[in-house]
Amino acid sequence: MNVPFLNLIAQYESLKTELLPVVEKVLAAGHYILGPNVSAFEQECATYVGAKFGVGVNSGSDALTLALRALDIGPGDEVITTPFTYIAPAESVHQAGAKLIFADIDPRTFIIDPTEIRRKLSPRTRAIIAVHLFGQAAPMRELQEIATEHGLHIIEDCAQAIGAVYEGKPVGSIGTLGCFSFYPTKNLGADGDGGMVVTNDESLAKKLKMLRVHGIEKRYYHDLHGYNSRLDEIQAAILRVKLPYLKQWNERRAEIAGRYVAGLKDLPCDLPVTSSGNTHIYHVFALLTEKRDALQQHLADRGVPTIIYYPLPLHLQKVYADLPFHEGDFPVSEAVSKRILPLPMYPELTNEQVDYVVQMIREFAF
Ligand SMILES: Cc1ncc(COP(=O)(O)O)c(C=O)c1O
Repeated sequence: MNVPFLNLIAQYESLKTELLPVVEKVLAAGHYILGPNVSAFEQECATYVGAKFGVGVNSGSDALTLALRALDIGPGDEVITTPFTYIAPAESVHQAGAKLIFADIDPRTFIIDPTEIRRKLSPRTRAIIAVHLFGQAAPMRELQEIATEHGLHIIEDCAQAIGAVYEGKPVGSIGTLGCFSFYPTKNLGADGDGGMVVTNDESLAKKLKMLRVHGIEKRYYHDLHGYNSRLDEIQAAILRVKLPYLKQWNERRAEIAGRYVAGLKDLPCDLPVTSSGNTHIYHVFALLTEKRDALQQHLADRGVPTIIYYPLPLHLQKVYADLPFHEGDFPVSEAVSKRILPLPMYPELTNEQVDYVVQMIREFAF
């Protein structure tokens, strides 16, 4: 049997009859960027994640950069985030001109550790970018305590966690701003790039709307240093078709996670841990083993290719070679990056495929 690591075509096939007409309608309407579908999707998405305002942008990466800019974070400021994630949050700090500060992660959830954040605070700290990694929320209560004590903003990076809930609140609506990605492989994926910033603060929403179109409120009058970061109508129309399915897709992911856990729990490897108060949406289901590379090869040889997230923590990336980071600075992130192995995880996986992956792992000599 072959179990693809991802399968975007399966989702397209299941929604084809709904997607094609809306795409055609947009094409026929002749309004391709920031039109009625974008406005409607901004409202629908904001409501879904419990926020008042949504601002559609062209990627999750831009959502983070614009969020920092909307908060006037820039040169002279420090922003704390995790070294164990996709590079976008770290990049956004660099793009805003602020200083990038990392804090190590919790070894069980791989999410930023509030105790480590406290060690990295300085009088220049302005914000924490809390990445809700792999589909579960960061420990927002502890982070909010730190933010309140030190007058910081929390920007939630919800790229991997749309629909995840933390102590009864959907992620994105807890911090000052919530940033989402609709990259095709995300739990809610567009058929191209897309992103969104949500907030309950009307003036921030207004500023974000200006930042995404070259700093204008009135056409050809530029009040802010802005960007071209607009969401297009085709992506918004597609996302409007997909949003109503998100809940069932996330539930199916949780079901698959349960099936993996039931099949693997007696093996000598670590399985994902969900912190209390969290509803996990399993963007990623990853196990930890000292024999990661051998297990990855074993699975690949049996029709189960996998991709490692993340093989090299951000502080050791070449792009940051000129910053004062060294091997050993973030030992938990470094250890996890050597042991982690994500398994196939998407709603269209069949039980037979999941059981096959389990069986292949069980045949491995741990
Ligand atoms: C945690 C995290 N933040 C931000 C992003 C950036 O999103 P995008 O690819 O839409 O720019 C990603 C996406 O891959 C991500 O995983």
